[in-house]
Amino acid sequence: MAAPKNQAAWLAKADTPLEVSNAPMPTAGPGEIVVKNAAIAINPLDWHMQDYGVFIQQWPAIFGCDVAGEVYKTGPDVQRFKKGDRVIGHTINLISGRAQDGAFALYTTLQADKAAILPHTISFTDGVVVPLALEATICALSLKIPGVAMPGVATPALGLPYPSLEDPVQSVGKTLVVYGGSSSVGSMATQLATAAGIHVIAIAGAHNFDLSKRCGAAQVFDYKDASFVDKVVEAVRKSGHEFVGIFDTISIPDTYSNDLAILAKLGGGHLACSHPPPEDVPANVKAGMAFCVNEIATPVWRDYVTPALQAGKLQCLPPPTVVGNGLEYIQEALKKSKAGVSATKLVVTV
Ligand SMILES: NC(=O)c1ccc[n+]([C@@H]2O[C@H](COP(=O)([O-])OP(=O)(O)OC[C@H]3O[C@@H](n4cnc5c(N)ncnc54)[C@H](OP(=O)(O)O)[C@@H]3O)[C@@H](O)[C@H]2O)c1
Repeated sequence: MAAPKNQAAWLAKADTPLEVSNAPMPTAGPGEIVVKNAAIAINPLDWHMQDYGVFIQQWPAIFGCDVAGEVYKTGPDVQRFKKGDRVIGHTINLISGRAQDGAFALYTTLQADKAAILPHTISFTDGVVVPLALEATICALSLKIPGVAMPGVATPALGLPYPSLEDPVQSVGKTLVVYGGSSSVGSMATQLATAAGIHVIAIAGAHNFDLSKRCGAAQVFDYKDASFVDKVVEAVRKSGHEFVGIFDTISIPDTYSNDLAILAKLGGGHLACSHPPPEDVPANVKAGMAFCVNEIATPVWRDYVTPALQAGKLQCLPPPTVVGNGLEYIQEALKKSKAGVSATKLVVTV
């Protein structure tokens, strides 16, 4: 039988369309697996990378962060996976810069530590919504000591526990506000914080309250309601738990001013952001930016993801929208992501 051939959606230089053509077959070194992709998810980061060339270290480039598929090869020392296993995983192309670590290809190399078996009951298109959002969330919530998100920008250090498989999960007596409860990261943050025994109050569009509640939010407030800041503050006070702070998964000037208003009324706290935090935050606010490739997520990948998916404790939310079948559709999916989505993750099958 002829050896399979790889193809990828290549970026030749910033601000040019992706071009599908042949690519070298990825290899699996120590601690790595090669996955034959079945579904690839799109993240807002991807079109930033295409437009501005940010994080790209080698040209032409293959990038992209989220894959689901079957293990094609395992590295010499990899025990957790074997050929043919159905997996989801988060690529490290963002930090390695290697083309073989990019998701926008038929085959991708993954670190075994950033992958998990996908139960047979879950489709690749559903499962692929999980990886990057999961790792970014764990970085935002569970680091205990601030690290470096990017030069001059620290990571948050909320020190919250990992999600647990306990049923029901024991309350840890803390309240967290998740701003952007219907976004990919916000849905995941709501789920994982709830599964860690944290009381979550979410802020989302009114049309997406149901999604946020499905993820575990105890209460949801509409970010378009003129008095939502006061309502969130009152809900936090009434929760009776220690206020940890806010995970602002949207992180734009408008959300920052609302974050700071909430934190001012509650006497300060953590402000975990998905982009560099606002400058000149008050002394009682500890602000930082999550960076989605982080070893802090390793135990969650290893011990939590598969059994939690199996038990329905970790849901593949927000639901995917399949843009098309074939690497050619990645460009269209990037365009749709840039135009903005509501409570969905864009996915391309291959
Ligand atoms: N630092 C990191 O490691 C990291 C990792 C992942 C993502 N990010 C960044 O985090 C941001 C979110 O990523 P994502 O993939 O989660 O985005 P996404 O799912 O594409 O975000 C879309 C969602 O955002 C909601 N939204 C938009 N404006 C809002 C506002 N003012 N208040 C509340 N909700 C609002 C929309 O809700 P409605 O439809 O209800 O309006 C929509 O459901 C992006 O900027 C991304 O680049 C950073």
